[in-house]
Amino acid sequence: MGNGFEIRDLDAAVGAEVLGVDLAAPLDDATFAAIERAWDARGMLLFRGQRLTPAAHVAFSRRFGAVEVPTNRQYALDGMPEVYVVSNIVEGGRNIGNADAGRVWHTDSSYMAVPSRGSLLYAVEVPRDGQGQPLGDTLFASMTAAYDELPDAMKRRCEGLHAVHDYSVQYERRLAKVRAAGGQRAALDAGTRERVAPIVHPVIRRHPRSGRPCIYVNLAMVTEVVGMDEADGLALRDELVAFATQDRFVYRHRWNEGDLVMWDNTSTQHLAIADYALPQRRLMYRTTVAGTA
Ligand code: SIN
Repeated sequence: MGNGFEIRDLDAAVGAEVLGVDLAAPLDDATFAAIERAWDARGMLLFRGQRLTPAAHVAFSRRFGAVEVPTNRQYALDGMPEVYVVSNIVEGGRNIGNADAGRVWHTDSSYMAVPSRGSLLYAVEVPRDGQGQPLGDTLFASMTAAYDELPDAMKRRCEGLHAVHDYSVQYERRLAKVRAAGGQRAALDAGTRERVAPIVHPVIRRHPRSGRPCIYVNLAMVTEVVGMDEADGLALRDELVAFATQDRFVYRHRWNEGDLVMWDNTSTQHLAIADYALPQRRLMYRTTVAGTA
């Protein structure tokens, strides 16, 4: 293992910081195994001070599994389709990335039959206020810690329930909002719509690696709970998310350029804070590692 290699739990229900690792350099198997164990255990890992090219970012991501090509391909990085650009920067009259990604609590790719294992987000440009303080934080909540503390009556209520995750419905909603605000965004093409047909997952999902139960409904994709009246299903979803995202389950990450944060898409949810606007620029690159179960 590298000199100074250390993994320190963050002072929160989720997350650990990994020190003494250069992710652009080859990682030996023992270091990689320690990182993977910490990711499984803590749900989110932080590496500061990295200098990653998109190719190195993808190469590190591939150590954990196949890397997905994003559903919304209009924001793929030129020449590197596995890299999804999250950014408010406009060039030539067009957004170079998704400007409003993650503005409600969610996990990535929950709308897929096999949801993604995790995502790796790398900060290239971080917006700052007049005092130089970073803006555009991201919050992470532990869905395992939240499940463990869920009242027994709620655990029993959720047993055997399944929820519908629907990418198209949420996309259309956001499209309407963006266009109403005068922004531009392409409509979903027929091919994409077919690839993202609505899918059903358990409301409490066992983690594919640890087997631990996780609250697995989110505000972005869940449109109904199977067998429930629509309003009751959405009320249950909202109650679970409100419970799971209380401060005691949450870590708030304040970004700096060169931070790479990777999160597990079953045992955590995340939320991006929109407290900045141009000329405050935010540019992040994200890869998403495919799931296996
Ligand atoms: C995301 O939800 O993938 C993006 C989160 C962020 O931009 O902070």
